[in-house]
Amino acid sequence: MKDFAGRTAFITGGANGIGLGLARALLAEGVKVAIADIRQDSIDAALDALDNHEATGLCMDVSSREEFAEAADEAERRLGPVSLVFNNAGINLFQTIDESSYDDWDWVLGVNLYGVINGVQTFVPRMKGRGADGHVVNTASMSCFLAGPVPGIYNTAKFAVRGLSESLRYSLAPHRIGVSVLCPGLVKSHIHASDEVRPDALGARGKPVDAAFNTQLAKVHEAGMERDEVAAKTLEAIHENKFYIFPHPEFRDELREVFDEIIADYPKGDAPVERLAFERGRRENYRKARAAARGK
Ligand SMILES: NC(=O)c1ccc[n+]([C@@H]2O[C@H](COP(=O)([O-])OP(=O)(O)OC[C@H]3O[C@@H](n4cnc5c(N)ncnc54)[C@H](O)[C@@H]3O)[C@@H](O)[C@H]2O)c1
Repeated sequence: MKDFAGRTAFITGGANGIGLGLARALLAEGVKVAIADIRQDSIDAALDALDNHEATGLCMDVSSREEFAEAADEAERRLGPVSLVFNNAGINLFQTIDESSYDDWDWVLGVNLYGVINGVQTFVPRMKGRGADGHVVNTASMSCFLAGPVPGIYNTAKFAVRGLSESLRYSLAPHRIGVSVLCPGLVKSHIHASDEVRPDALGARGKPVDAAFNTQLAKVHEAGMERDEVAAKTLEAIHENKFYIFPHPEFRDELREVFDEIIADYPKGDAPVERLAFERGRRENYRKARAAARGK
């Protein structure tokens, strides 16, 4: 995608952190921006800070299909057809899977996975129907590659967002709609305070909130990348239609180490000819789909 100017963007979780960085960067490129967030006070503060009449705020919960559709209608009514979608809202819960309740699962998957699904289900048919080009960016994390005992549910959601995004990229390429997955490492943000927006209805916790750990987490995030740097790298990647957006250089060697371990676990040996014939065809199609989605 070459030109952003004159387009409309919809950014979930746009009132803080990475989303706010994206809003600022897009406005600077002449994009009209809908900031969709569950925190009304943060939306108000963001709109004050941005001080730009091309930005508007919408209070909504990304895990609700109905609220998502209503917010999309309202954004398009105020700012025109959306052709840039940032499914970015996210929360974190630092605990292991064996310590988690069903409510923990429903909250984290509801926001971090269903929030993305709802964004795709809401906007992709509209974008396809208009026949114009566009781009969808789904925010995952380096946690979509690197898992630990903590944060188990977050890992589950982010791995799924990566898979969803890659598959969607191939199906939307013929429609001139690009798809990227944003995989940040540490970013200065408000995510350590996720518990503030946990709905009462999903209050059955597998584990009590550890206030001391959250304070520590806030300190760790202070060392994170500035949101404006993440945003600038994201817009550059959209211009280049890259699938993976890796703002943080420090993970390159670790990814190689992890992929080397995966390959090392891979068995040697031959497969039956019939199976190989099928896999050869599938592999060639996959290669072509990747090249086509890159526009090559
Ligand atoms: N901060 C990091 O270090 C980091 C690293 C990797 C990935 N990420 C991802 O980046 C994305 C943005 O997070 P951030 O770090 O900027 O955090 P943040 O807390 O600063 O911003 C996230 C925003 O999402 C909003 N939000 C939360 N639940 C919502 C809901 N149900 N509906 C609508 N909005 C909701 C919050 O109010 C907040 O404004 C998330 O998907 C997160 O997982 C963050």
